[in-house]
Amino acid sequence: MSKGRLSFLERGLVKIALLLFATAITLVFVSSRGSEASPAMSTESEQQTDANAQQMLAEGKQTFRFDTFGDEAFWTDALQLHRAIAGAKFGGVGPGVSPATALAVGLKVDSTALPQSLTSQLKRGRVNLDDPATTLALLKLNAVVGVKGTFKADGSLQSVGITCALCHSTVDNSFAPGIGQRLDGWANRDLNVGAIVALSPNLTPLTTLLGVDEATVRTVLQSWGPGKFDAELFLDGKAFRPDGKSAATLLPPAFGLVGVNLHTWTGWGSVTHWNAFVANLEMHGQGTFYDPRLNDPVKFPIAAREGFGNVRSNPDLISAKLPALQFYQLAIPAPAAPAGSFDPAAAARGATLFNGVAKCSVCHVPPTFTEPGWNMHTPEEIGIDDFQAKRSPDERYRTSPLKGLWTHQKGGFYHDGRFATLRDVIEHYNTFFNTNLTEQQKVDLVEYLKSL
Ligand code: HEC
Ligand code: HEC
Repeated sequence: MSKGRLSFLERGLVKIALLLFATAITLVFVSSRGSEASPAMSTESEQQTDANAQQMLAEGKQTFRFDTFGDEAFWTDALQLHRAIAGAKFGGVGPGVSPATALAVGLKVDSTALPQSLTSQLKRGRVNLDDPATTLALLKLNAVVGVKGTFKADGSLQSVGITCALCHSTVDNSFAPGIGQRLDGWANRDLNVGAIVALSPNLTPLTTLLGVDEATVRTVLQSWGPGKFDAELFLDGKAFRPDGKSAATLLPPAFGLVGVNLHTWTGWGSVTHWNAFVANLEMHGQGTFYDPRLNDPVKFPIAAREGFGNVRSNPDLISAKLPALQFYQLAIPAPAAPAGSFDPAAAARGATLFNGVAKCSVCHVPPTFTEPGWNMHTPEEIGIDDFQAKRSPDERYRTSPLKGLWTHQKGGFYHDGRFATLRDVIEHYNTFFNTNLTEQQKVDLVEYLKSL
């Protein structure tokens, strides 16, 4: 056989191989282009999903910010809070609530809801912040975050109700302290819920529910302080801990919760469980709520007596809003820590410690910083008392998701703010877990926590 023939055959095989190779490349190229997400190419069901997501977001945002679920029946008809806000001069009682007072108890004003004429007057100091009439004007503009007013034809305040945004939104202070653009999902750690409720001319609904006199109810409300609320008080009637301090817990953020299984400090349930709980039992909206765990007369004497474990209202103004409300909350990302608010090199070292010798990531598993699965721990596992845990069905504490910690440093950390600073939290773990961290390691861990 001659060399020439062989090489002719070889050349032929090479050509075929090249041709096959080129065809394969073309096929890969064409098929990858075909799978590119172009709206024109997406299937009908994909389009439906996208449209649904957009609609759920819009609906959920509206509900989170503005829906009272008919809770005016409580805040207006029962507590008569609207009369205290308006004041005697405008058909209510007492001095009324001036914007200065409202800001002092931590209420926030949405600057984007203000007309330009008002913002320019505000800038020039021409708006009387001591006049309750200004508060009424702000309510008419729907500018008081989390408080919704309705007005009669004669312009007087007919009713007020509260929304989720009251406790779980703040503003960026871009206009003035307490006045700016909305930050949905942020815990309002300035908000003094107890002081606001205590403004009510009629506290009988609370004295009846708790079975105590008005002076006691006022003492309890005053004991909460800024950034706190006691969601379990109306279930078990326990206003104070054994050490005499208030039983209220910190307002947590409602952002960065996607992928987290159980919610609230003590893991009551999913986001939607708790949303239904709060809308019905805390905001006192009109809806449906079912949780037979509340029928326990020993743990939850008030809830069991009042039938809070099985609430049915007609009409139901809550249930239809729960799906989009949950969807919206799960979409709110935890805001990134601003550059300059932490030391990046120290934070990087802190991350290594967090995931290593400090053993934090055993429970705070990135990226949600809680455990995938049943994210609950006994008080003994984290070295604290069991008071608040015992006030919940599972008698445990939920591993807090840590993203966006920098936004809620005011009021302290852990459910009751027992640790004033992140450094105090680290000291607690260092002692409890016997990790023997050095001074530098503690500093680095704090910088990492601030960066999340
Ligand atoms: C009066 C203040 C207040 C209002 C109004 C309020 N919440 Fe809360 N929210 C709290 C407090 C306090 C907790 C913690 C409760 C606990 O752990 O016992 C909480 C917990 C939560 C959590 C759990 C967060 C986490 O870290 O798991 C979510 C989600 C939430 N609220 C959403 C809502 C929604 C949605 C609404 C409106 C339907 C609402 N809240 C109305 C005070 C409030
Ligand atoms: C055994 C599980 C576990 C380990 C390990 C653990 N944590 Fe926690 N962590 C929790 C639980 C549970 C809570 C909620 C406590 C509460 O609600 O009072 C929490 C709360 C926190 C909080 C407060 C969050 C807030 O919103 O107030 C911070 C900060 C924190 N942990 C950081 C750390 C760091 C840093 C480490 C490592 C040194 C660590 N944790 C190790 C379970 C754990």
